[in-house]
Amino acid sequence: MDLTTDYMGLRLRNPLIASASPLNSDIGKLRALEDYGAAAVVLPSIFEEQIVAERREFERRTEEVAASGFAEAQSYFPTYDSYGFEPERYLDIVRRAKEAVGIPVIASLNGITREGWTDYASALEQAGADAIELNIYFIPADLSMTGRDVEQRYLEILRLVKASVAIPVAAKIGPHFSAIGAMARALADEGANALVLFNRFYQPDIDIATLRLSMDLELSRPAEIRLPLLWIAILYGRVPAALAASTGVESADEVFKYLLAGADVVMTTSSLLRHGVSHMKTLLDGLWALLAARDIDSVEEVRGRMSQQRLRDPTAFERANYIQMLQGYRVPDAV
Ligand SMILES: Cc1cc2nc3c(=O)[nH]c(=O)nc-3n(C[C@H](O)[C@H](O)[C@H](O)COP(=O)(O)O)c2cc1C
Repeated sequence: MDLTTDYMGLRLRNPLIASASPLNSDIGKLRALEDYGAAAVVLPSIFEEQIVAERREFERRTEEVAASGFAEAQSYFPTYDSYGFEPERYLDIVRRAKEAVGIPVIASLNGITREGWTDYASALEQAGADAIELNIYFIPADLSMTGRDVEQRYLEILRLVKASVAIPVAAKIGPHFSAIGAMARALADEGANALVLFNRFYQPDIDIATLRLSMDLELSRPAEIRLPLLWIAILYGRVPAALAASTGVESADEVFKYLLAGADVVMTTSSLLRHGVSHMKTLLDGLWALLAARDIDSVEEVRGRMSQQRLRDPTAFERANYIQMLQGYRVPDAV
């Protein structure tokens, strides 16, 4: 059975990737994930806020020393690189992850503004990251901001990151664009080597007992694959970027479905947090079994088989199916 997969030029032994989460900052867990079959790992994100905070702190201390008038004090002042702040620790995790595992290590860079952090991508490259996943988690709460403004912001951030590195860059985006297809194409044209579909937005709830916002993080459920599945099926073969499915994988069934829709790789976090890192092997064995039971010899054979391009009735992914679904719903007798 040939499960090998190409993802943004990275040659993977299979299409399963452990997506960004704190689980992947533990070197022991990364080794275990590799042993259990993960083809690549995405490290948890380093955030723009962390990078910018460190730079501000550095500037503040430099100014303090300069203002003290003791020029020689500068020599006692630690250099930028020797700070033990978050960004330096993150680079250390990248280096240690690279030493610990043989599979590709993808660093995750997370931010929303254009200035002051995107060049950190080159430090990630120097630390040995095989690729960068750029997560732009932006909620346009400013009501004067138009859809075009939001899209331009994504594209500019991507352009800056791409300009800083030679390694592949994946753009992890949410589903809240008016025209995901056009946005996907624009990101690919701007140089995104892959699109990770989708970022999961964590919306706050209201705790009615305390009248506070509750920010508890719920793990995903398999029913959530439908939105990324729809868009992967529509985009397959139509954008010059790899497609990574992210959200809702619980069993090998979801992995298989995503491949059928056209995903190059399938990522999971919730299932690993729910069942432990050994679940990676359960997914892999399950995928193998699903393919073997259908006499399929490679993932290449199934990839995109249920995409919009390959279906006899491509409108099934569009409005026709929606009307059919609504009108075909049987109201239970008891209602
Ligand atoms: C506890 C936790 C931490 C996460 N941290 C990150 C992160 O640092 N960066 C990121 O891009 N995504 C992060 N994610 C999102 C996951 O990478 C993934 O996209 C999301 O959980 C949907 O996939 P799933 O359904 O397999 O969980 C996190 C998710 C969870 C549950």
